[in-house]
Amino acid sequence: MSDAIRDVVVITGASGGIGADLARIFAREGHAVALVARNGERLRQLVREIAAPGAPEPLVIELDLEPSGSADALAAALRAANVRCSILVNNAGYGLAGKVASLPRAGQTGIVDLNVRSLTDVTLALLPDIVAARGKILNVASVAAFFAGPGMAIYYATKAYVLSFSEALSHELRGHGVTVSALCPGPTTTGFQSRAGLDAPLFTLMKPMDCRPVAEAGYAGLMAGKRVIVPGLFNKLSALISHIVPRSLSMHAVAWLQDVRRHD
Ligand SMILES: NC(=O)c1ccc[n+]([C@@H]2O[C@H](COP(=O)([O-])OP(=O)(O)OC[C@H]3O[C@@H](n4cnc5c(N)ncnc54)[C@H](OP(=O)(O)O)[C@@H]3O)[C@@H](O)[C@H]2O)c1
Repeated sequence: MSDAIRDVVVITGASGGIGADLARIFAREGHAVALVARNGERLRQLVREIAAPGAPEPLVIELDLEPSGSADALAAALRAANVRCSILVNNAGYGLAGKVASLPRAGQTGIVDLNVRSLTDVTLALLPDIVAARGKILNVASVAAFFAGPGMAIYYATKAYVLSFSEALSHELRGHGVTVSALCPGPTTTGFQSRAGLDAPLFTLMKPMDCRPVAEAGYAGLMAGKRVIVPGLFNKLSALISHIVPRSLSMHAVAWLQDVRRHD
């Protein structure tokens, strides 16, 4: 590999919310970053904000990660820019609130395509470079990963996949010098709620976190090589409760919570 090839942190879903704050933090800590999302204008705005004088400009990759083939397109864009992914942050994701039987089919399979298939394929496509760099992977799961989620069933199931995949991969990559971390935030104030069709009132009840401390916890946990990172006391308690309370009971609680949050 030529010396001219630079290592970068690849962050998917960097145009807003948790991903944008992770990009700010990685840039602050002196990492070169490659920012991926569909909204190129928002990515370029972020580049103007975080570009450090004298350092190479953050790379913008305007890409829809939902269609199959997007992982190859991402790998090709990195090659074309002469950079290698040493740290991968799989953050892009979305959910839809509502019952499986009443939500549009395409929207629901789209959640699986982005949160599961694309996250997996991007990881597989970039893994050789990450292993060569003895790098790191941060997969953004959710506290939802610990529960079955009536009222947001597919989203919860995709996040259970992300957590399970991350933990198993972290085990497999022991001895390769690569760490894999799953970040499991609870409700966080971002663009996620409006895309999901969720209302804000519940927030007073569940104390949503700002995305900056969530991203800071993700960065610190990743750098410390933590396998599972749950930011915030309420979310830590929720994760703990999921191991204690019978699933039949927690499902009633989740179904109720999703019901009061949803706006149809
Ligand atoms: N907010 C919460 O309450 C919460 C709680 C737990 C976990 N999470 C997880 O945190 C992660 C980040 O979400 P967020 O809360 O920061 O929400 P957000 O503000 O909606 O950000 C989502 C990011 O994903 C990108 N994205 C969405 N669809 C994409 C696609 N097809 N291709 C490429 N990029 C796409 C969006 O960019 P473009 O629209 O420009 O493509 C945006 O940058 C998600 O995985 C979410 O499930 C969120």
